Amino acid sequence: MAKFISFCSQKGGVGKTSITTHVATYFYQVERVPVAIFDCDFPQHSLQSIRTSEIARLKSDEGFFRKAEKLGQMPYPIYADSVANALPKLDAYAIKNELVLVDLPGTLNVEGMPAMIQRLDAAVLLLEADPLSFESTMHTVLAMAKFSNKNGGMVPTYLLWNKFDSRERKDRYSGLEQAALNYLDGLNASRKTPMNVHFMEHRIPDTVAIKDTRSTLFPNAVIKPLIQELNKLFASNSPTV
Ligand SMILES: Nc1ncnc2c1ncn2[C@@H]1O[C@H](COP(=O)(O)OP(=O)(O)O)[C@@H](O)[C@H]1O
Ligand SMILES: [Mg+2]
Repeated sequence: MAKFISFCSQKGGVGKTSITTHVATYFYQVERVPVAIFDCDFPQHSLQSIRTSEIARLKSDEGFFRKAEKLGQMPYPIYADSVANALPKLDAYAIKNELVLVDLPGTLNVEGMPAMIQRLDAAVLLLEADPLSFESTMHTVLAMAKFSNKNGGMVPTYLLWNKFDSRERKDRYSGLEQAALNYLDGLNASRKTPMNVHFMEHRIPDTVAIKDTRSTLFPNAVIKPLIQELNKLFASNSPTV
């Protein structure tokens, strides 16, 4: 059965499109997992734009074309649609694809969004270590908690640090994590179904490698540690993914 995963955030610029692209390409080209992307981030559709510019380059740059030929398979499909239009199509792709990644708009206030969130097997919320990003992520967590999935609980939600700065004080990230976990614990006291929110172990470094090697065709090992952790989550039978 296909898994529907979304790397999301209500704040722009935290890396949704970049991480979705890296993850999709690595799973597809290295792990050989069938992948499809729904780019529902209307009207930018920036993920589809990356593909469009790569297709244009295939036509104009022979070296690039030769390199792509060596990949040995057609690129994974990217469907650009609004959330509401994508929804009825998801099940058709669920049969064909093992991993469907959905790039969602930065706001939950969009037609079809509750149904889309309920359909997800997991949501990965990207966050940065600045107070605004952190606060906005906590708001997203609260909003996500209002929707329940097919099992009647909250959609499994993972918090993933992006643009991790290893020069920061060691306790900066762990301190923020602890504050978030305490806050979530407090919420649990007044909820019938528990918050299903977890921090991922991996932190994606702030590196030009993420920027410069973002491709819908060529995988890059910079994302490998995240793939390894996602694989562990997919493999486990826990109520997580
Ligand atoms: N881990 C990272 N290290 C360095 N730059 C990053 C990283 N993740 C994202 N970026 C950069 O941040 C900017 C915003 O990323 P993008 O994926 O477009 O965010 P979003 O889709 O959330 O708006 C882009 O310039 C991207 O290259
Ligand atoms: Mg984007």
